[in-house]
Amino acid sequence: MGFCPQCRDGGPLVELTTPSPSGASAATVPLTEADRHRAVRVPIGIDEVDRVLGGGFVPGAAVLLGGEPGVGKSTLLLQVAGSVAARGGAALVASAEESVGQVGLRAARLGLGESGVLVAGDRDVDSIIAAARALEPELLVVDSIQTVVVRELDGASGGVAQVRESAARLIQFAKESGVAVFLVGHVTKDGAIAGPRLVEHAVDVVLYLEGDVERGLRVLRSLKNRFGATHQAGLFEMRDAGLVEVADPAGLLATGRLGSSAGSVVFPAVEGRRPLLVEVQALVAASAAPQPRRSVKGLEAARVHQIVAVLERHVGLSFVGRDVYVNVVGGLRLRDPAADLPVAIALASSLQDRPTGSLAAWGEVGLTGEVRSVAHGDHRTAAVKRMGVETIVGPGDGTHRIDVVMERAFGCQQPVARFSPRRGEHGEAGRRALHLSPAAED
Ligand code: TYD
Ligand code: MG
Repeated sequence: MGFCPQCRDGGPLVELTTPSPSGASAATVPLTEADRHRAVRVPIGIDEVDRVLGGGFVPGAAVLLGGEPGVGKSTLLLQVAGSVAARGGAALVASAEESVGQVGLRAARLGLGESGVLVAGDRDVDSIIAAARALEPELLVVDSIQTVVVRELDGASGGVAQVRESAARLIQFAKESGVAVFLVGHVTKDGAIAGPRLVEHAVDVVLYLEGDVERGLRVLRSLKNRFGATHQAGLFEMRDAGLVEVADPAGLLATGRLGSSAGSVVFPAVEGRRPLLVEVQALVAASAAPQPRRSVKGLEAARVHQIVAVLERHVGLSFVGRDVYVNVVGGLRLRDPAADLPVAIALASSLQDRPTGSLAAWGEVGLTGEVRSVAHGDHRTAAVKRMGVETIVGPGDGTHRIDVVMERAFGCQQPVARFSPRRGEHGEAGRRALHLSPAAED
């Protein structure tokens, strides 16, 4: 304006810095010395959990563990507490969900009856914190964040206000006391951790335990980790004596009768850095409904719809008037984009009722009908070969047209019926470059 609107003074504007209200300035550290401030890590002693956490838990860290009911969250954290206690650390399990007696029964079953883990059957957050303050454990487990309450707040446990405040107090306690706090979080029907998103932002680590509740395999993943990478996965089997670590997961989910029926393809998913062979199944059937069904389990539904569209447009297959079911055996939720190609092959196989034989595949499928290379090709190849799978279909380092890939996938089993309406358009070079070999060949 050229003048002060209040005093009408016409002098130039001068920039001022106001000190922060407390008068204190933040401590600054050169990055070269920041390393010394790195968090220490305490190994739990269960390798698969330590791996996912990035080497152990960090004192004062807040960790949220999500998962469906019955997947084994309480079991896992009781085992974690037991392992910490076995090393001589104090561990407190606050169970708002189960009585002390029930936790005791479970502990006995897990062989942790004598482990020295302390149990509190309380729902009141402040009582739990007070108990932890008095005991000064290394580890506090709160099972679950949806069932504890802050007494002076209105609203039932599990409500947004209660969950937010309970989490805030427990996280605050973790930070000021240096006790690592593990919170169990329920998930909603679509798999997100119930309650305000804020809780996920506020904690340092978000873990997710998944797997088919009916079947044995469980995968522990980190969705967020302020102290380490998030690409690791821990694998367990639920047995009579709790969760048992699985060191070599390859083949766990691939059934013996692979390839004998149409619509089944092996997919070497890479969890963390380790490949895990899973079976992708598809069923395409004539639909009686005016609006055919599209049912997807274990994969993103939108992704499968996209693959169906690509198969229709670029391979010339028609799914019109047909129900489509796609399922990942074992209850895993795959996030690996390399699952596209096995899904495509399983769909084509079922649609045409042509078994692929024992075949493994991976590759990302793009909207323009290209199959792109994905990471960890070597690991995937090695795992598949170890399992004795006969044929491998993968993009190698290149990009290939999906109709060519499909033709090869089926062509190597039996003479190809007219598969693609545009056969012959593509040159030999593309085919030769295809990373496709009977596994036995080399
Ligand atoms: P649980 O830890 O209660 O699951 P969550 O806390 O995620 O709801 O475990 C659920 C199931 O695990 C239970 O239904 C039975 C099974 N289970 C075993 O198979 N073996 C065991 O040793 C234990 C403790 C549980
Ligand atoms: Mg539980």
